[in-house]
Amino acid sequence: IEQAVAAQPGTADGVAGELALAVLADEPLDGVPPLRSLEFFRHQVRRLMANCGVIDPDNIDHYIARGGYEGLAKALGMTDEQVISEVMESGLWGRGGAAFSTGRKWDFLRGAKVTPKYMICNADEGDPGSFVNRNLMESDPHLIVEGMAIGGYATGASYGYIYIRDEYPLPVERMEKAVQQARERGLLGDSVLGSGFAFDLAVIRGAGSYVCGEETGLIASIEDARGMPKIRPPFPAQAGVFDKPSNVNNVESYANVPLILREGAAWYASVGSEKHKGTKMFSLSGQVQRVGILEVPLGTAMSDVVMGAGGGPPEGRALKAVQPGGPLSGIVPASDVGIALEPEPFKERGMFMGSGGLVVLDDSNCVVDLAIYFEWFAEDESCGRCTTCFAGTRRLLEILKRISSGRGRSSDPEIMRLLADTMRYANCVHGQAAPTVVMTMFSFFEEELNEHLYNKRCPAKVCRGMVRYEVVHHSD
Ligand SMILES: Cc1cc2nc3c(=O)[nH]c(=O)nc-3n(C[C@H](O)[C@H](O)[C@H](O)COP(=O)(O)O)c2cc1C
Ligand code: SF4
Repeated sequence: IEQAVAAQPGTADGVAGELALAVLADEPLDGVPPLRSLEFFRHQVRRLMANCGVIDPDNIDHYIARGGYEGLAKALGMTDEQVISEVMESGLWGRGGAAFSTGRKWDFLRGAKVTPKYMICNADEGDPGSFVNRNLMESDPHLIVEGMAIGGYATGASYGYIYIRDEYPLPVERMEKAVQQARERGLLGDSVLGSGFAFDLAVIRGAGSYVCGEETGLIASIEDARGMPKIRPPFPAQAGVFDKPSNVNNVESYANVPLILREGAAWYASVGSEKHKGTKMFSLSGQVQRVGILEVPLGTAMSDVVMGAGGGPPEGRALKAVQPGGPLSGIVPASDVGIALEPEPFKERGMFMGSGGLVVLDDSNCVVDLAIYFEWFAEDESCGRCTTCFAGTRRLLEILKRISSGRGRSSDPEIMRLLADTMRYANCVHGQAAPTVVMTMFSFFEEELNEHLYNKRCPAKVCRGMVRYEVVHHSD
């Protein structure tokens, strides 16, 4: 900006404004507004993302200069119980989808008597439309290394695996480099920071299957077995990787921990809703004017993200729905876009908030077509262990495709409900939750479904099987 102003004295506002989107400072500079005042950033509280785009992720000194590894140093001066109670007090719950208390999970592992114990980072991030873990690993890899080391100390684990989906080559590179640098600085190894606590990490490339993200499937994949979810119990804290007690957490869950230890649970809980403290990252994509990654306090209205930060659908289009969290989560109708971003409002509607993906749909999208995509995905990714899952998703897909081609039957909704009822008995959440998108279609988009079923019409003009061609005779 300064160069631009110097080159064109007297036209500072115009030139700087053309060259710069915003300034990092809190005040405007030569007519260029602060970044925080832009609509995309206005609702955000960037704690986990504080270093994103600010530091060189390949340089450990940049991370340390901004308070990195202070949380680990502080934890090493506490007892394992104290660390866990600090994490519990913060209210942190897992960001991978199930929203289970991280502190309680760690306490299960701490109580396990068998050794060695393992900390596992789930960076499989297979939900279409979710890329928050990728952003963290690419922008601030040491935050995750530090979170895992603190977890290892608190639970008595001596080794950890970072399991990264194979389609993420840059995160693999960044995490490997971060682990190596941490080792060189004595932040990992036989005696972390000279404390006598031994902890080390390895990066593992994923096996390219969605269900490898399910924690027991992921454990099987680390063991070099086929990535099929196992039957529980035993739970990972009892018998996880190599049958040893293990803890699986999402990337974002671990990333919160250094901040909780460094700044304290009270600071952590100073943002968020009545019930849910802290922030959550979301990846916004689909039919919105501005896409990207955001971090907002839990409990923020979804409309602030979709309509505010995202600017809503393109001009001339109307918001139809928001698809949160991936193929198993369901579809929120436009009328509910104001719900709070925290688990309960989604649960009340028979859906899940999921791990952070928000895909926006407008009136050019068809809800039956969307359901076809997700049932295809669920069927394609089923590991095949349970008939309820692999055959259930296939049947749902067949029925939906038939409806979309104009051959739907009045009995189809009832059959789909029966299937969904049966699929609840599948072994893992993949099969259990695969019908969610269909069930939310019944709850919130019945009219559109009925148009397809009874009038053989796709209001969004997407379902190709419903396009009718007519030959019209023209005489001159
Ligand atoms: C089919 C399927 C895929 C999953 N994929 C992921 C994933 O990519 N990342 C993730 O963290 N959790 C995923 N989960 C949830 C994990 O099983 C597990 O609950 C999570 O890693 C626990 O971490 P958290 O407590 O920090 O959320 C998936 C679950 C299912 C059923
Ligand atoms: S529910 Fe589906 S993905 Fe899960 S174990 Fe059964 S077949 Fe495999």
